[in-house]
Amino acid sequence: MRHFLSLADYTQDELLDMLKLAIDLKQAWQQGGNEPLLRGKTLAMVFQKPSLRTRVSFDMAMRHLGGDALYLSPNEIGLGKREAISDISRVLSRYVEAVMARVFAHEHVLELARYSAVPVINGLSDFNHPCQAMADMLTILERFGDLKGLNLTYVGDGNNVAVSLLFACARLGLNFTIASPEGYDLPANALAMGEEMAQETGITIRQVRDPHEAVRGAQVIYTDTWVSMGQEEEAEMRKKAFPPYQVNEQLVSEAEPEVIVMHCLPAHRGHEITDQVADGPHSVIFDQAENRMHAQKAILVRLLT
Ligand code: CP
Ligand code: NVA
Repeated sequence: MRHFLSLADYTQDELLDMLKLAIDLKQAWQQGGNEPLLRGKTLAMVFQKPSLRTRVSFDMAMRHLGGDALYLSPNEIGLGKREAISDISRVLSRYVEAVMARVFAHEHVLELARYSAVPVINGLSDFNHPCQAMADMLTILERFGDLKGLNLTYVGDGNNVAVSLLFACARLGLNFTIASPEGYDLPANALAMGEEMAQETGITIRQVRDPHEAVRGAQVIYTDTWVSMGQEEEAEMRKKAFPPYQVNEQLVSEAEPEVIVMHCLPAHRGHEITDQVADGPHSVIFDQAENRMHAQKAILVRLLT
């Protein structure tokens, strides 16, 4: 039995296999529907934080594949508050075939997995967001036909989304550049892991301060919120540090002409991304959102069949 907690736990071949399956499942769905590959299976979806995409895309993925999904809201089971995580995990394992969890502390999704008798999927933690990065790689693959050798530049906070993108790039052969203000770099342990993974693919990883230097030569520009869920008390401080890192038309014009602009959403328009860019010709943000569903179908099928 495998869990899906971090892209670092998967090989390049395994990730490419999932992306290929996602493409097949997407095509089948577009042509009328998916086979009921997960008939009789139920996914419990545990949320400590709000969500639009993760909640709806997992729910619809299960339905399209003939299975079912249960939404457990932040107040419902009180992960680690009403009940110990180890107990919750062992109880859920008796009812459902898989668990997806969105948590604050990454340790909590690891603990769920440690005690679970069924696969656990990380639906975002404070450390990473692997399902998002799979949807992102699917989106890039659709646009460029290949992943290897592309230059992806992440502009903004070295957060959970940035960590999973680094891991995806390191495993799948995209050069990764991050431009972030001082104090908002990638966590050192994530960078070290990314560098180790990069040895196999030979990609370059760059950390720079200047967003303009960072986007030169980029085929992909990616950004995310300056204030992640759980960081609300830092909002004022962060809003002072990040404005030079806004993805606007000027910055996009400094990248390659065919550049695509990505954002995991929710977007804070006028902060990390302008309306002109989010709604402009380079933006693929809604394809990314749709691809959450297709990428997660592939993850679910690989874990549950
Ligand atoms: N991108 C993403 O995970 O969105 P939600 O927070 O709405 O699930
Ligand atoms: N970095 C953001 C991503 C939301 C999908 C957060 O953690 O809030």
